[in-house]
Amino acid sequence: MGLINHRNCGHAPIGLFDSGVGGLTVLRQLEQQLPNESVLYLGDTARLPYGTKTPEQILQYVREILTWMTAEGAKLVIMACNTSSALALETVRSEFSIPILGLILPGAKAAVQAGQRIGVIATQATVASHAYPNAVREINPNVAIWQVACPEFVPLIEQNQLNTPYTIQVAQRYLAPLLEQQIDTLVYGCTHYPYLEPVLRQILAPEVQLVDPAKAVVTAAAQELDLLSLRHLQASAHRRIGVTGDPQSFARVARHCLGYTPVVEQICLPTRLLSQAK
Ligand code: DGL
Repeated sequence: MGLINHRNCGHAPIGLFDSGVGGLTVLRQLEQQLPNESVLYLGDTARLPYGTKTPEQILQYVREILTWMTAEGAKLVIMACNTSSALALETVRSEFSIPILGLILPGAKAAVQAGQRIGVIATQATVASHAYPNAVREINPNVAIWQVACPEFVPLIEQNQLNTPYTIQVAQRYLAPLLEQQIDTLVYGCTHYPYLEPVLRQILAPEVQLVDPAKAVVTAAAQELDLLSLRHLQASAHRRIGVTGDPQSFARVARHCLGYTPVVEQICLPTRLLSQAK
């Protein structure tokens, strides 16, 4: 059985990846919007967090993951990581033959539809790339946008400290400059952050809209699958979840997002040499 045949028949999985549990918030959206699709998920937990890495490192990690996902027969990949989407999407799209979707453009479109005074919370790397302000201003130059890097959030979420007094204090500090600007919309510019919704809701005025780009990227993926006649129509979805770090601790945190403890495999990604040979 060749991988190409597998991919063409429509039973091949959609690849999703992130540095850790953040991408599961995208998986959750995918389960709602595309329940018949099989999923191949990779959490690159051995190299988490991505948000503090250089653009070169992030590009290298993404190449390795895409090399692996392509070899495993993924028919389409959603980068379930804003940092990777901001820094590597354009480059890898020209290097790999399968469709690859990122979160920034769908997220920017959803943000512009939601409000006029937009706050973005994201990793340091995503903020430094200016990907969200650039995308938002391209869609509507009249919209006001502010962004804040939140480096403490990902480690807190990966340690399952979702609603502790310390997490609330950190969130108050990060949101203060956005509250000062009286934002009407807040974008989760990192797929980990929807886990903090109860905390963020305590701090934000009730009328502030929360935008999760995950929802919009899955809608875009559904359209892409239809366009390419790759949609899987029968209900036979299969989930395969792998991590580069410790499977047990990932499964424990993943339980909060998925509502069940998933089976998690340890994955060994192709080496630097293999991915460069692609
Ligand atoms: N969840 C990822 C994102 O959307 C990466 C977070 C990190 O590892 O720093 O940016």
